[in-house]
Amino acid sequence: MFHLSCETSEDWWEVEALYDLCFGPSREALSSYRLRYGVTPITLLSLVARDQDGILAGAIRYWPVLVGAAPALLLGPIAVHPTRQGEGLGGLLIRESLQGAPAQDWDRVLLVGDAPYYCRFGFEPLSGVVMPAPTNPKRVLGLSLVANGWIGITGSVTNLRL
Ligand SMILES: CC(C)(COP(=O)(O)OP(=O)(O)OC[C@H]1O[C@@H](n2cnc3c(N)ncnc32)[C@H](O)[C@@H]1OP(=O)(O)O)[C@@H](O)C(=O)NCCC(=O)NCCS
Repeated sequence: MFHLSCETSEDWWEVEALYDLCFGPSREALSSYRLRYGVTPITLLSLVARDQDGILAGAIRYWPVLVGAAPALLLGPIAVHPTRQGEGLGGLLIRESLQGAPAQDWDRVLLVGDAPYYCRFGFEPLSGVVMPAPTNPKRVLGLSLVANGWIGITGSVTNLRL
């Protein structure tokens, strides 16, 4: 029903509009955006989902960051158009995009979000991983993409320009 593809520069403003719709235009004031300014998202993992008419239904982006000195993926934003929510598309976007990450040598992924949603994909609260303030530490969640991917990884989350 939905066609997934890597986001291209032609998708950019349409995806921005979807994020504005889902999060509100003040979304860029969130502390996590400080890790995104001036950084290019990881195009091979950032996906758009379109329906059979080509209408954008959902999108997910990933950014490179450092946790201490260790590289990690920052997942987000992810959004599904309000008229398409609850059909499994959010889950599809997360699972499909993460499937390609280990082949690109990513060992771990983190996000700031609702644990009750993300725990179904294996995300767990991270301790010792400090996002830019103000961030509720309980919302900082991580997933290992390889065995023990988060063991011993702590520190501040900072920009990584690849
Ligand atoms: C969060 C979002 C991406 C999920 O996409 P989706 O396609 O609706 O999700 P799915 O269909 O895969 O999953 C739906 C399930 O997730 C649950 N869910 C959705 N958002 C949730 C949340 N924030 N917390 C807990 N559960 C949530 C639904 O209740 C539903 O539960 P069920 O399977 O028990 O019925 C989408 O709701 C969205 O874009 N929301 C607005 C933007 C947003 O909040 N993004 C995430 C930032 S943390």
